[in-house]
Amino acid sequence: MTIPAYKNPALTVSERIEDLLGRMTLKEKAGQLNQWFNLGPEHYDMVRKGEIGSDLLAGSPTAGNSPQERIFARRYNEVQKIAVTESRLGIPLIFGRDVIHGYRTVAPIPLGMAAAWSPELVQAANTIAAREARADGVHWAFSPMLDIARDPRWGRVAEGFGEDPFLAGKLAAAAVRGFQGNDQDAIPERFPVDRVVACAKHFVGYGAAEGGRDYNTTEITRQTLHNVYLATFKAAIQSGCGTVMSAFHDIGGIPLSAHRYLLTEVLKEQWGFGGFVVSDWGAVWELTNHGIAADAGHAAELGCGAGVDMDMCSMVYLNNLPDLVQSGKFSEERLDDAVRRVLRIKFALGLFESPYVDADASHAVHLLPESLAVMRRLAADSMVLLKNNGVLPLRADHLTICLGGPLADRRKELFGCWTIDGRDEEVTTLKEAITGRLGAETRLHHYELVDDAVKLARASDVMILAIGESEGRSGEDNCTTTIDLPAGQEALVESARRMAIPIVAVVFGGRPLNLTRVMDWADAVLFAWHPGITGGLGVTDILFGDVNPSGRLPITFPRSTGQIPLYYNHRSTGRPLPRNSRRHSRYIDALDSPLFPFGFGLSYTTFTYGNLCATADPQIPEIVVTAQVTNTGDRAGTTVAQCYVRDVVASVARPVRELKGFERVFLEAGQSKTILFRLGPQEVSYLDDNGHEVLEPGRFQVWVGGDSNADLGADFEITPDGRWGVIDKGE
Ligand code: BGC
Repeated sequence: MTIPAYKNPALTVSERIEDLLGRMTLKEKAGQLNQWFNLGPEHYDMVRKGEIGSDLLAGSPTAGNSPQERIFARRYNEVQKIAVTESRLGIPLIFGRDVIHGYRTVAPIPLGMAAAWSPELVQAANTIAAREARADGVHWAFSPMLDIARDPRWGRVAEGFGEDPFLAGKLAAAAVRGFQGNDQDAIPERFPVDRVVACAKHFVGYGAAEGGRDYNTTEITRQTLHNVYLATFKAAIQSGCGTVMSAFHDIGGIPLSAHRYLLTEVLKEQWGFGGFVVSDWGAVWELTNHGIAADAGHAAELGCGAGVDMDMCSMVYLNNLPDLVQSGKFSEERLDDAVRRVLRIKFALGLFESPYVDADASHAVHLLPESLAVMRRLAADSMVLLKNNGVLPLRADHLTICLGGPLADRRKELFGCWTIDGRDEEVTTLKEAITGRLGAETRLHHYELVDDAVKLARASDVMILAIGESEGRSGEDNCTTTIDLPAGQEALVESARRMAIPIVAVVFGGRPLNLTRVMDWADAVLFAWHPGITGGLGVTDILFGDVNPSGRLPITFPRSTGQIPLYYNHRSTGRPLPRNSRRHSRYIDALDSPLFPFGFGLSYTTFTYGNLCATADPQIPEIVVTAQVTNTGDRAGTTVAQCYVRDVVASVARPVRELKGFERVFLEAGQSKTILFRLGPQEVSYLDDNGHEVLEPGRFQVWVGGDSNADLGADFEITPDGRWGVIDKGE
């Protein structure tokens, strides 16, 4: 018996797609574009009829808020078997799940991962997540979340890589490679069998929600869209990301799930994206709520017409596209294009050849010691030391520690906002981690009632306060009107202050928090984000000095909620800061500077930057910047050398500085190293309103240093005839 061409793995993917497409009815085509969730026996008939193309493995639209919804590999095999053996064409389903920061081995939240400034560790963490998820039957991770966020009230700031498109772009590429395992910069013909296809979301500008309120409307200019919000997505697409999710919100009145310019003209045509776009949950149907679609049919027409290929959980494609095509109201060509894109990913995942998962194999892949070690390192490297009067690192011996605060002995609170596959009992709490780390002569007093604290603190050498937010206070639909600490926590630190022993505040959080008062009262402050399964251990690695802190902020920390939005790569204005005079862009009741700038973080040693030198070869469009970084303290440590650029005069006002290079540099005590950054056309150009690169002659400034306030700099220029030269080469 001859097999149909589309089932023949010896043929190319496009040959197989064309053969299959030619056999499909309109309903079957729409079925491939229809994703439903939590498929059970009540849906099997639809699967048999080829009316469902994908199963979203979640019990509800807010899976991130309902932790530990279990995965059921056997059930997925059951429904897959119906699709493969009982539907007319036997097209397998693709199973998608929110694998946002680790899977069973829970990683730090993405904002925390970003603080490690390590594409290598992000790739390693996502490789682990992909392997664990695939072993459970997941084919597709709705991740990485690439929304640039400048407003920490927005709960989803936790899920992204922060405020900077350059850093987030590098991490986006690493995240995609970790999930997909592809080493080329394109969607592979075949994904490795132990990886998943990634999904860059939420395309695009979702982080600009007005008031930091989730799902809210945005106003973003083309200039900012192309240079800030789209940049991370472009980095993901250029790394071969297989899918993209269109967002819920609108920009200037056009909802993203009906945004033809962005989905089709930019993403698919300009960038050549060959994978498929899935809507966010119900977002195509929500076009009726936005008030641009009259009914579900109209929504389907707008969504698919604009470029959304798969409809997540609203059935409006299945129920409307076949009739719309039949009646000539919707183009079959566009329908076919969407189906081709979905089939391409299914073929690339090998689902036609291997549709099932070994339901008993996951234990061989989950929670491996080497995976836990990677997550522990990532957790420790993500933590940012914000203050240290010398109390840290703690000695492990001859010390009595008083440990308190609401998060001192908590488990799931350390996970972070999108943990559906981690298990509470597998988290090491801070108390357990400290207990495990104590030397023979060290004692730990843990108090839960503040009244006990007084007594215990008097008998202790140091107090550790675990404060901040629990995991449920950030993430989707968890926005706040203030970035102040949860009620009562400032008072806790203040009262501890009166006990006259050194205080170490360990702050957990899914967003920048207002730590202005805590900075006054605590002797040391460590920002630990939501550090995941090994988070407690990561904190003790830092507190006891086994790991020298090297985390750097991927987002500005304001002094108060009222300063928001506050980000380092803002434009200059006509009345720029800093200026201590009136009539400059400032407040009268507060300082204008942030509490901590982007890129900031302390270490147990100190670093200096010097000998900056910029050079140019007139034949090459490039400036080479070198600088010497020295560890001036008495212990080994890692700093993150950062390179910032400003385009001083351009046709549009450009940011006061933009990150264009970074490198984690490890140095022994007293050691120096020369670091080098290359600035070429890509680093000094910007995008115009159509997304085209503009490289203008004129003067540029460059700085190298340890955070976004770096002041070691040089000037260079591009002459009108296109030659690159140094004006002031630096020191
Ligand atoms: C979220 C997405 C998520 C999807 C599927 C939506 O509510 O916005 O980030 O991937 O649900 O669970």
